Amino acid sequence: MTQRESDTPLPDQGASRRKFFKFLAASPLAALAYSAWPSRLLEPVAGEALPSEPAPLPCVNCGAPVLPPGLDPTRVVPAIRTQQVPQLPPQEAQEEQLMGSLIESPDDATNVWDFERVTHDNNLAQHWDYLHMGVDDYETRVANREGFQRLMLRPRRLRSEPSSGFDTSVDILGQRFDSPLFLCPVAALQAYHTEGEVGAGRAARRRGVLQLQSHVSSNSYEEIAEARGEPHWHQIYTNPDWNRNQRVIDRVARAGCPTLVWTIDLLGGSNRELARRSLVGEGRESELCQQCHNHQEGYQRPMNRDLDGPVGERPPYTWDWVDRLKNASDMNLVVKGIVTAEDAELAIEHGADGIYVSNHGGRAVNSLWSTIDALPEVVAAVRGRVPVMIDSGVRRGGDVFKALALGADAVGIGRPYVWGLGAFGEEGVDRVIEVIMDEFRMVMRQTRTNSIDEINSRFVTEGKNPIMTRRNEFGFGL
Ligand code: FNR
Repeated sequence: MTQRESDTPLPDQGASRRKFFKFLAASPLAALAYSAWPSRLLEPVAGEALPSEPAPLPCVNCGAPVLPPGLDPTRVVPAIRTQQVPQLPPQEAQEEQLMGSLIESPDDATNVWDFERVTHDNNLAQHWDYLHMGVDDYETRVANREGFQRLMLRPRRLRSEPSSGFDTSVDILGQRFDSPLFLCPVAALQAYHTEGEVGAGRAARRRGVLQLQSHVSSNSYEEIAEARGEPHWHQIYTNPDWNRNQRVIDRVARAGCPTLVWTIDLLGGSNRELARRSLVGEGRESELCQQCHNHQEGYQRPMNRDLDGPVGERPPYTWDWVDRLKNASDMNLVVKGIVTAEDAELAIEHGADGIYVSNHGGRAVNSLWSTIDALPEVVAAVRGRVPVMIDSGVRRGGDVFKALALGADAVGIGRPYVWGLGAFGEEGVDRVIEVIMDEFRMVMRQTRTNSIDEINSRFVTEGKNPIMTRRNEFGFGL
């Protein structure tokens, strides 16, 4: 990999560009092309005389001479894309630098938000809105990011002994994974790319990360498991008719699923204003939407097919349902959506094999505290009896590190991998995992931690500084 892996500070791109324009001014080759360049590109050199002596080509990153003039100008020139030429007022130029340009391939990505913008451009507006939305005033979505941002690192600089080995692998409920990162269950992935859960699953398998499939996935459990060559975890939304639940459970257990995840943070419904707005008028009723949503009479998502029985109202769920789900198969049972010590304790009492701290990525209830804020009390209540997983707002390798430091055993991403999928399919998911893991490994190296069990709460502290959010008013970058 490039910059990310080295300890070299990022080059000053503005200075590079200035040097590049100086090169333009100095190069006879460029002088030939001078008249063909749009005038706005030439403004920065206006007033500077064109010298007659040839000058070497400067590296676009550091400005150091890299080639004698005339040898291979194309190698340097295309690296400066026209849209990067700073003709913007300083404030906007700075923002553009922060955001980067729209990427054309997964390898061009600098961080996960690069995929967000491409997915936004590639996808149907209604699908984008569904992926992006929070509830009410987005307070929970914002809190999730701010929670991570408020937590600061306390790195240790040197070790007493020379370090040996470097290992990011983890054990979760009897399975070994190369990474503590996992892919959360997200509904209907073919809405973003035809490769759907199968594409995401292949990428997860290749990178050695756990994949959770949503109950309302576009691909069936069997299809995904076959594409991966190995079973994955399945998430269930329960139904008042127990027989329907039992059929889903039997089906995935038969296919080799080791762990069932029950999501309990949407049982009271949610106020999804953006989705409602984007579905009025053209949305959903349009011919384009109906081609998919109504393409066959009584269409059901794959994991809801042939279940029979009424769908009906949500039953008044009680903790007994945890026992019931646990006893319904030999699979492990993880309860997803816990954000308090009390519920963590009750879930374990009723048979949960794992606790999953989540607020559904801010899509369930407004004004919830962030999951990273909730994590310590949950971890304290769990007392190491079962693994603790967490998601919601994880965007950086540093966030993964912070969650592990506060006691999580595995850390999930939802929207970021869907941004990767929506932008480039399987390759995009693969690269999203790579980007976050590269960042994570760098934080590990910077804190002198060599394995996951060396990461503990001494490495983080509550920050006193104001939070810097990325450019946003419910737009990109959350
Ligand atoms: C979800 N999530 C989700 N959770 C679940 O248990 N079953 C599901 O079907 C879905 N569907 C779903 C759709 C979309 C579009 C999103 C964004 C999320 C929640 C998901 O598992 C996870 O909790 C959050 O996505 C994590 O937050 P971030 O990473 O998206 O901020």
